Amino acid sequence: MGKLLLSQGQVSILFSAVIVFLFTLALFLSGFVLQQRYVHSLHLAIKPRLPKPLPAQAPLQPPTLDAKWARGMGERLEVDESVQQRMDAASIDWSRLGYVQVVKDHSELCSAIMLLADLQAKRSPAKRVLMFPTAWVKETSEEDWNAQMTTTKRLLRTAARRHGAKLVPIEPTEAGADESLASSYSIAAMYSLTSYERLIYLDGPGVVLDASALDSLLAFSPSTPMNAFPATPERKELSTSLLLITPSHERYRQLKERRLSQRSTDLELLRQTFDTPASLIAESTLAMGNVVYESQGLREASDDFNVTAFHERTTFVRLRERDMAGPEYDVPYTEWARLRPQNAQAREAWESMYETFRQRRMEVCGLDLEYWVGPGGV
Ligand SMILES: *[C@@H]1O[C@H](CO)[C@@H](O)[C@H](O)[C@H]1NC(C)=O
Repeated sequence: MGKLLLSQGQVSILFSAVIVFLFTLALFLSGFVLQQRYVHSLHLAIKPRLPKPLPAQAPLQPPTLDAKWARGMGERLEVDESVQQRMDAASIDWSRLGYVQVVKDHSELCSAIMLLADLQAKRSPAKRVLMFPTAWVKETSEEDWNAQMTTTKRLLRTAARRHGAKLVPIEPTEAGADESLASSYSIAAMYSLTSYERLIYLDGPGVVLDASALDSLLAFSPSTPMNAFPATPERKELSTSLLLITPSHERYRQLKERRLSQRSTDLELLRQTFDTPASLIAESTLAMGNVVYESQGLREASDDFNVTAFHERTTFVRLRERDMAGPEYDVPYTEWARLRPQNAQAREAWESMYETFRQRRMEVCGLDLEYWVGPGGV
């Protein structure tokens, strides 16, 4: 019996060991629980959003485009929650759907990457593709080195590594054309991306406020060669502000041949090739709110303009004013104050778009605004 009794010293050592063990266990368990919670929220954060169904194909009265924001508040129509669309949502092959940017000039590169970065930040599950002149990645000799090319190469690396963009170099449309001229390239090049079923092209510079409407368009639209946003509410001509296309070798060849036979801008080329209204995006798309909105519309906003409603229902804001340099430029304050919207709520929306652009430009490209040389100088 005496042998089993522990001395006082031994008891206290045993007691301490148990205490240490219990504390270690408690520490481990709390760490484990915290980690599980963190992993769960991480899962939620990186999980791509599934798209909402497209609106019902009911005709809209009256067919207004962005004009409705200038006039007052438009109502959003009910979406078409048909069983078919909801069933299809789970089986969408996102590897065949994507957003494409076609860059022809160094000055456009940052804005193109910003749009792809915005779509990534808004957790779009679709692919991102960046097309740019092959000349930019050709080996350059010591003499050819310049600061612009260094920035371009850095931005291309950023696009691929940080924003998961697939880099696709393109050749001039016409063999032997000047590789350094933007006009030697065409957005028709995106028709060569035949591994994709549908692609959306957005005309920057701009800000993507919400990717879900664009994802819905990608996911549920029929595959037709061209689905373009109309230039005006009358739906007479297409614009290049948003293009939803299905690439094909045949279309690519056709566009290339047409372009070779006569020099034309991309807009002219597309207008000549695709008939309207057959190649225009469905009118029911208007029920999704402002899928594409041009910032200058805010300068004609009506008195009852509501900035909260605007943010809630707007998808892509293209930053473009008739009489002002692009958002990449540092416009002098007097000029800025003269051009901004008069209406207080519209001004808030307008200024926040330009400010968001400026901040994103720094975050995504590490670039400040460009020096503005005055009217006519840009
Ligand atoms: C603006 O719109 C929001 C959201 O649609 C709404 O809650 C708010 O009441 C509106 N404000 C005014 C002044 O109409």
